[in-house]
Amino acid sequence: ATNKLWGGRFAAGPAAIMERINASIGFDKILYRQDIAGSKAHCAMLVKQGIIPAADGAAIQAGLDRVLAEIEAGQFEFRVDREDIHMNVEARLAELIGPSAGRLHTARSRNDQVATDFRLWLRDAIDQLDIDLKALQAALIARAEEHSGTILPGMTHLQAAQPVTLGHHLLAYVEMLGRDRGRFVDARKRLNENPLGSAALAGTPYPIDRDLTSQLLGFDRPTANSLDAVSDRDFALEFLAGASILGMHLSRLAEEIVLWCSDRFRFIRLSDAFSTGSSIMPQKRNPDAAELVRAKVGRTLGNFTALMMVMKGLPLAYSKDMQDDKEPVFEAVETLSLSLAAMTGMIGDMQVQNAAMQQATLGGFLTATDLADYLVMQLGVPFREAHHITGRAVALAEARGVRLDELELSDFQTLHPEIRQDVHSVLTVEGSAGARQSFGGTAPDRVVAAVAQAKARFL
Ligand code: ARG
Repeated sequence: ATNKLWGGRFAAGPAAIMERINASIGFDKILYRQDIAGSKAHCAMLVKQGIIPAADGAAIQAGLDRVLAEIEAGQFEFRVDREDIHMNVEARLAELIGPSAGRLHTARSRNDQVATDFRLWLRDAIDQLDIDLKALQAALIARAEEHSGTILPGMTHLQAAQPVTLGHHLLAYVEMLGRDRGRFVDARKRLNENPLGSAALAGTPYPIDRDLTSQLLGFDRPTANSLDAVSDRDFALEFLAGASILGMHLSRLAEEIVLWCSDRFRFIRLSDAFSTGSSIMPQKRNPDAAELVRAKVGRTLGNFTALMMVMKGLPLAYSKDMQDDKEPVFEAVETLSLSLAAMTGMIGDMQVQNAAMQQATLGGFLTATDLADYLVMQLGVPFREAHHITGRAVALAEARGVRLDELELSDFQTLHPEIRQDVHSVLTVEGSAGARQSFGGTAPDRVVAAVAQAKARFL
């Protein structure tokens, strides 16, 4: 049998393999709600403009409501021979209401229909991801507030650098996630234009009202160019680029959780709820969820690459290649919402091991910069010279096997005669962190203020 919706010029139906490669219903059925909303708006506009009779319009509206109810009740049969969500809905509508259904596709093409559905779907997905991102920020801010004064070794090159507060460290991720949210909000603004009414590629001779359908569907305005509207997918690419950057941020945080849970760090502990055991090594508590979050950014970047490759060589306007635009986006959204939920769970769950963090701050000469700063600020030594003198102090402490603050005053005075007893107070990790009062710095009272600001900016 030929296809009822487009088979007029065909004598025979498609080969089985043609039907299989052509069908998108397996994945685009999740667009059903947007597809039906788009059809209802289009139908209302056609009636208002006198393009189709009001009685047909009323039958179509009622029929579409029934189709929606059937799908939501799990009573709808999605058929591969009906190719995609658009034709599945329309064919079922025809079964329900008869020939009136045939008027719905007036002044419309699946090309503007699918572009509309996809934008509506992604708009909703972005709104949900924003909620998920905010929940993760809230979890991080709560832990930062608890640990505004907890000190751990800050690192560069994964080497001990300077003392930082845990609250400050966690708030760094709150900033990254805030920019991720901003990227999605920006993408949402640009995608919120209505392709409906562009028809196949050139527009339509019917006296349609694109402002009306825009308004009914919550779009800011109709798209300005019909060729662009049916063949642009940069709104999806922009989303996937932002998704990849977010995935990378989550992966870095996941990596820190893995490191901090390890036996060498023991900075945090995940409860049984977020740990897994080994089938052979009974002592194990593995941070699998963090490792999987770390892994998943590869898929999201792959999704971005996949769609970029689909689009890069296509002449205007629509080509069927573009049917492959949806799965990468659907997969990225699913991956991110799972990763965000898992990360929010882990951040809330982690037990901070204050003693281990404290212990770790004692090694690595974390306060060496503070000694150099003391020489500059108290004794007026130029910074480069102070750096050199401090390097000698570190070498001396290393040779003696002691911490910097364990050197005697007389040792310090061999390096610079004017160093006084008060040098010892700047060499503690508390003194070091507490001194970093510059805006955006790690001092505990700075963190307290930053927590309040983060709540106001993000929550
Ligand atoms: N299932 C198609 C897609 O996702 C709908 C658009 C089909 N348009 C066409 N001219 N064959 O892209």
